Parts: sequence; structure tokens; C-alpha cells
Amino acid sequence: AFKELVFSGVQPTGNLHLGNYLGAIVNFVKLQSRYECIYCVVDMHAITVWQEPAELRKSIREVAAAFIAAGIDPKAHIVFNQSQVPEHAELAWVFNCVARLGWMNRMTQFKEKAGKDRENASLGLYAYPSLMAADILVYRATHVPIGEDQKQHLELTRDIAQKFNNDFKAQIETAGFADGLFFPMAEPVITGPATRVMSLRDGTKKMSKSDPSDYSRINLADDADTIAQKIKKAKTDPEPLPSEEKGLEGRPEADNLVGIYAALAGSTPAQVLSEYGGGQFSTFKGALIDLAVDKLGPVGAEMKRLTSDVTYIDGILADGSARARALASETMRHVKQIVGF
Ligand code: ADP
Ligand code: NA
Repeated sequence: AFKELVFSGVQPTGNLHLGNYLGAIVNFVKLQSRYECIYCVVDMHAITVWQEPAELRKSIREVAAAFIAAGIDPKAHIVFNQSQVPEHAELAWVFNCVARLGWMNRMTQFKEKAGKDRENASLGLYAYPSLMAADILVYRATHVPIGEDQKQHLELTRDIAQKFNNDFKAQIETAGFADGLFFPMAEPVITGPATRVMSLRDGTKKMSKSDPSDYSRINLADDADTIAQKIKKAKTDPEPLPSEEKGLEGRPEADNLVGIYAALAGSTPAQVLSEYGGGQFSTFKGALIDLAVDKLGPVGAEMKRLTSDVTYIDGILADGSARARALASETMRHVKQIVGF
């Protein structure tokens, strides 16, 4: 049996938003009381698309600050950035040689991110899921809190773990893993009413850091006025809110805002509709603004305070990286023996 361990990551690509917060970071915070957790700023994933180096450095600190501002305890758990632990890249190469081209070709996120000019996408963007598998498995993590959009990548992580365990079964047993299992089948933890937060401008697109419209997302760094403006301008339809959840079908914008309210309030869409159903959208939006400012305001303010203390943040990352590396190098020692290096 594997020791239960949580691993997850967020890319330092700017514009940390409400989707990242509700779909990932809030769950990171919750899991701390039940599991040992490792939370990573995945800077090597970030450079799969062009990043301005000075911006990247700033974003790395911003994501670390967001983790801590949201309530992650970097002493009891591990907060670090990926590039400081070279074992991630080392294991990713081994996984590049385990994973099959056909598996990678099925990844929908690559197709979305590469767009029409696929020939011009970086090789790193294509191999991204293999590095993600290494991030998780270099700690032999068992639980991975993520948003819906990462589900397919986590399935690939399990495929890689399984093929590695099968291909090297004899060597794994010789190395002292009697059951022939070296890597665990990491499970996704996808919970809460906002595992897929949609754009405020288009209810059919997910809220994303790279959307050119700043009004499509609420950034964690937004102040109260900005949050209010964005919710006021959020796209809706002309109907009042339904009183039951099935009335949200075919109304993606309404469904999204109700889901966001429920997630921020720690309730359910049904509960939200029992309070606001039948009423005008403007009333509901007013309540959502108050709630969002109340919940996100303090996180944004604390993030700002922490990012201004560069020495503190860099100290957290250096300490976390050293502790992560001690764990990762132990896994790589076995992997090298198993593979035949
Ligand atoms: P992005 O997709 O915005 O570039 P990342 O790839 O760094 O963000 O994802 C960080 C975490 O946030 C992942 O667990 C991802 O599933 C989650 N996430 C990203 N966007 C959303 C969204 N719109 N709704 C819910 N979760 C999301
Ligand atoms: Na993502």
C-alpha cells in the first residue's frame, strides 16, 4: 500500500483567477487537515508557451503568495517551485520514453492550446502531460486535487504509471517492491460546485488566464471595485433566476454565476436558488458582489502584502524546494536502478 500523499500545481502564467481558486486552491487548503500535501508552482510548465522572464519571476512569487494567502501552511506542508527540483525533469524524460505518441495525440488541451498553427507549437507543450505525470509520481502521490480540465491528463498519468510498473515488473521486484508496484495510480480529487468555472463573458468557455478580455475573469488580485464592475458586466440572459436547479439547463451564464455563489458561500446551487430563485438577476448579482468581495478581498490583500516581501517568499520556496528534493531524489534513486542506469 502507498502512503497517502497529495500533490498539485498551478502555473505561474499571470492572472491567477477565480477558477484556479475555486477549482483548485480552495481544495488544496481543505486537504491539509487530512493529508500530507505538496503544492508546486509549476514554472517549467509555464514556459511551454512564451513567458517574459521578468514577468515569470514575478508570477512565481505571486502563485506562492496566493497559496499562503488562501491558507496553505508552508511549514506543515511543502510549497515550492518545480524548476528548483531537477528530478521532475529527470523523471519526465524517462516517462517520455514510456508514454506512446498515440496517447499524447489524444490530449484535447494540446489541441486547444496549440490552436490552428500546430506545427509551430513547442515540443514542450506536446510533452506537457508527461512532465505532469513526473510531478505527481516523483513523490509517488496518491491524491491530486484539480479542476475538471485536468482530468484527462491525470488519466494519462495513471497510464504511464501502469506501463512503467508492467514494463519493469521484474526489476521493481528485485529492487525490493514485492508487489511489483512502484508507482501508485494517482486519483483525482475533483470536488465542490465550481470544478469548472466559466468565463463571465461567454458561458461556454472556461475562465482562463489567457483570455484576452480581463472582464472574462475575476483575478485574485482584483480590488473590490474591479470585482463589482466585472460581476455587474457579467453576461446573463433576460429570464429571472429559476427556483430549481433543472431550470438552469441551457442557461450556461446563470448556471455559472449560481455555481460561483454556491462555491464561495460553501452551500449548493439548490440552496442558492431556494433563496434567490424567481427574483431578478440584478438582485442576485448584488448579493454575489457582496459575497465575492467579502471572500476574495482579504485573500487579494494578503497576497499583495506577501508579494511585497520578496525575501520571505523566496525563503519559503527555497525551504520547500530542499524538502521536496529530499523526497524526489529518493524516488529517482530507485527509478535509475529499475531502468538500468
Ligand atoms: P489555467 O488553466 O488558468 O492556465 P493552470 O493550468 O495553472 O491554470 O491550472 C491550475 C489549476 O486550476 C488546475 O487544477 C486547473 O484544473 C484549475 N483550473 C483552471 N481553470 C479553471 C476553471 N476555469 N475552473 C475550475 N478550475 C480551473
Ligand atoms: Na489548466
